[in-house]
Amino acid sequence: MKTPERYTVTAALPYANGPVHIGHLAGCYLPADIFVRFLRLQGSDVLFVCGSDEHGVPITLKARNEGISPQQVVDKYHHLMKDAFAEFGISFDIYSRTSAPVHHETARAFFLNLYEKGELTEQVSEQYFDEQEKTFLADRYIMGTCPNCGNENAYGDQCEKCGKSLSPSELINPRSKLSGMAPVKKETRHWYLPLDRYQNEWLGNWIDSQQQQWRPTVFGQCKSWLDQGLQARAITRDLEWGVKVPLKDAEGKVLYVWFDAPIGYISASREWAAQTGNDWKPYWEDQNTRLVHFIGKDNIVFHCIIFPAMLKAHGGFILPDHVPANEFLNLEGDKISTSRNWAVWLHEYLADFKGRKDELRYVLTSIAPETKDSDFSWKDYQARVNNELADILGNFVNRVMVLTHKYFAGKVPLAAFEPSPELEAISSRVYTEVPKMLLQYDFRQALVEVMNLARAGNKYLADKQPWKLDLEQNRETVAAIIACSIDVTAKLSVCLQPFLPDTAAKIQKMLQLEGRSQWDSLLTVHLPEGHQLGAPEILFKKIEDAAIEAQIQKLAESKNIAASSIAAIEPAKPPVSYDEFTKLDIRIGTIIAAEKVEKADKLLRLQIDTGLDQRTVVSGIAAYFKPEEIIGQQVCLLANLAPRKIRGIESQGMILMAENPDGTLYFVQPGSTVLNGSVVR
Ligand code: 2FM
Ligand code: ZN
Repeated sequence: MKTPERYTVTAALPYANGPVHIGHLAGCYLPADIFVRFLRLQGSDVLFVCGSDEHGVPITLKARNEGISPQQVVDKYHHLMKDAFAEFGISFDIYSRTSAPVHHETARAFFLNLYEKGELTEQVSEQYFDEQEKTFLADRYIMGTCPNCGNENAYGDQCEKCGKSLSPSELINPRSKLSGMAPVKKETRHWYLPLDRYQNEWLGNWIDSQQQQWRPTVFGQCKSWLDQGLQARAITRDLEWGVKVPLKDAEGKVLYVWFDAPIGYISASREWAAQTGNDWKPYWEDQNTRLVHFIGKDNIVFHCIIFPAMLKAHGGFILPDHVPANEFLNLEGDKISTSRNWAVWLHEYLADFKGRKDELRYVLTSIAPETKDSDFSWKDYQARVNNELADILGNFVNRVMVLTHKYFAGKVPLAAFEPSPELEAISSRVYTEVPKMLLQYDFRQALVEVMNLARAGNKYLADKQPWKLDLEQNRETVAAIIACSIDVTAKLSVCLQPFLPDTAAKIQKMLQLEGRSQWDSLLTVHLPEGHQLGAPEILFKKIEDAAIEAQIQKLAESKNIAASSIAAIEPAKPPVSYDEFTKLDIRIGTIIAAEKVEKADKLLRLQIDTGLDQRTVVSGIAAYFKPEEIIGQQVCLLANLAPRKIRGIESQGMILMAENPDGTLYFVQPGSTVLNGSVVR
């Protein structure tokens, strides 16, 4: 089994405005690292690049809020992230940064290439301008009322309350985040990448040709962009912080962060080449090189549509072969959030769980959100470490080591032994199937297969119970059992390498088997009779309840802080008279039917028995409730809200929900079942 190709593997450049958390790891850095470690074991020529994404509006906003410069913000987080990745053992060949001179130079040259070839179009458009601060406002710098849900603090690109994508001109009562003043519209000129033209010329067909290879979630998202028809996209912005547009008449303009960031992969490769005396070009220009982008699902359009369009427009570059985007990892059932401190931070994990990197790699790979969002919980982490790593893998290896020392003075007792057919079958399956799974980006299943070998080894020893045999009378049998178990252990030390590199290295050290760093050594691992093993070492200590409780407690504190932060509590509203209140007809009803509204992720169409009638209510709760789970629930209904059409459906009333400061929704319900139609007053 060989994959002789050259590979360029990239992992999304994380924004340098916060530390790395487990969602980042599970999303792209860990699968990328497993993939790369495996390719290296196969003897492929791999360049694995990453770095900090140091431009973009959130970084400037953070700097402004903290009263420091953007450079100070990125310096802080760049080093924090770089060190955490290094300590965790993500095996980048280089971890660069987009504020590096090599990047500014590379990104400017890239832009100029497109500009000089006439690939870019220029357009003048009206954009919001803050007259007090004398600056154009990026979408994130404009706030206002969401036309969709009425949230008064929606941003110019998105309402974080209802999730709707917005453009600044859709906001009601826009205000500048800088001065708080209403901005004015002013003309500005920008350069655009004509994605609409590329779609017709080649991009549409190229995406279509990926249907068989790319994950359905990735292909589906691309397809839906194409179906809507791509638009020319502005690749410059009126901002101070970023890569300056390399044209004479472009004062105050920088490259759009999503234009410069992916070029960062190329700059990082150039920097690596300069540092190591290698040539970067084959990794980006040779058609035999496979380019693979590991990303999270929020980055799909940029890596599958925009960056390929840029590469092709530039010319001379290869296009991505694969973009294995993962879905999101949640934490204890809730979305990971940097601003709410709802995360497990990598640098904190490394400090709290010293020497336990592989435990986190194992758990995050076992629950990898490859096809759908998944959830990390501390109890599950503990269970997987204790019941799988410690009780199966650790226990097996430890027994093998201890028994060899006890019975045979730590020496391999036999070179040739009758192999157990079951163990043979499983190890040959690992040898042939795991590479296929890894090359299809199915990391979760690949790890299951490798663990099956440990499981089978553990079961083999438990079934054979060599410790119950009298050594003098059964020397040959015991020797064969031990030799066979040592062989499985040695194989594990090879195939675990991509997944659990520290553990694999520890096992090789125990077996005095260093240097088996080829996948093919799975077949040729045979240890000679009399080979001396090293001292046994415990691979995984069980995680105590107290350690888990401490982590759960830490998260509870984050939740309390978030919930009690004044900003999270909506301000009081002006008083209303009792008469005004009594105009509202609020009563109890029961949900008797519920279904998703087609093409509207957030909406459910509910049928409510109100005691008076049965009516349809459209409610924006689909993110929190599954239709089948809410049938039969009693709810409070504002029954005399004037009917309105939502997505073509007439909604006759509104159900009342309690909203946590974190945005989660709960039904407002009577304390016990009451008659439908009962009035709330
Ligand atoms: O989503 C993010 O964190 C971006 N900073 C990813 C950029 S990936 C690449 F294009 F650099
Ligand atoms: Zn909204």
